[in-house]
Amino acid sequence: MSSKPEVLISCHTFEEVLEHARAHFTVIDSQNTPAHTPAELRARAAGMQGILLTGTDRVDQAFLNACASIRAVAISAVGYNTIDVDACTARGVLATNTPGILDDTTADLGFALILAAARRLGEAERYVRAGRWTHWQNDLLLGRDVHHATLGIVGMGRIGQALARRARGFDMKVCYHNRSRVPAAEEAALDAQWLPLDELLANADIVCLCLPYSSAVHHLIGAREIALMKPTALLVNIARGGIVDDAALADALAEHRIAGAGLDVFEGEPALNPRLLGLDNVVVVPHIGSATRATRVKMGLCAVNNLRAALSGETPPNLINPQALAVRRAQ
Ligand code: GLV
Repeated sequence: MSSKPEVLISCHTFEEVLEHARAHFTVIDSQNTPAHTPAELRARAAGMQGILLTGTDRVDQAFLNACASIRAVAISAVGYNTIDVDACTARGVLATNTPGILDDTTADLGFALILAAARRLGEAERYVRAGRWTHWQNDLLLGRDVHHATLGIVGMGRIGQALARRARGFDMKVCYHNRSRVPAAEEAALDAQWLPLDELLANADIVCLCLPYSSAVHHLIGAREIALMKPTALLVNIARGGIVDDAALADALAEHRIAGAGLDVFEGEPALNPRLLGLDNVVVVPHIGSATRATRVKMGLCAVNNLRAALSGETPPNLINPQALAVRRAQ
């Protein structure tokens, strides 16, 4: 009988990641199970010591009640709103994430959505594919300039800063809102000006959301905030569903109260507000911010390293809930 800890990997992963995991654990993989219901996840994780979590799978009270043997939860993502961290801490379950690995890849996608929304790439592609391109037209699919526009970044963490660096190449003016201002030297290096949120919304030509989700920022961007934006402005969300009130956004886009949006994340994803799909002035992609093979492999390997440390009595490098160590010691 193997003495390796047993670990469930809750979603598809890459062969390199599986191999690394198998070197340390007895692994139950999900290569042929692309999605679980919460009950299926509980059933598969029962009796395991660890879970490597991805996608929309949740570790909540119900999961922890059903899977009392779980000692460590490693999410292969930077955002960990699918983990009930307090519930993990109360049980001495160590929870980890994968920060710092996906910043550039996610900022690239942010810029892709900025360009796609500004230059109407979704519409343009649909136009060509539908066989509607019959002659050159001076005023066909006119977009908005990204260069020299004002970019308002909400959430100036690592991803927000990576976006600001990209904006320099487009000669953009950058303003940002963050709970705390970034240190003056970094602000100067990024050439970014801190603004109160309402002021940023009123001034920016493009607003890009880069902040982590918590209940405190649920519907941070709702009808009132969208109404502050210019009618020519674009909203880009590469952060998390739930930060934007998608119904209010659909209303504003349908009535052309803002010019467009580029969205990687949605409330209740993978379901999304069906009204968004009927609108031409929104570009929608399926939560692919970190989706390059190189980055996803690095994230998977990092999650395995976190799990390995957590399950062998070490402090994992990316521990979200250090308080759980004391709870564990007292158990
Ligand atoms: C992706 O959304 C992540 O949080 O890593």
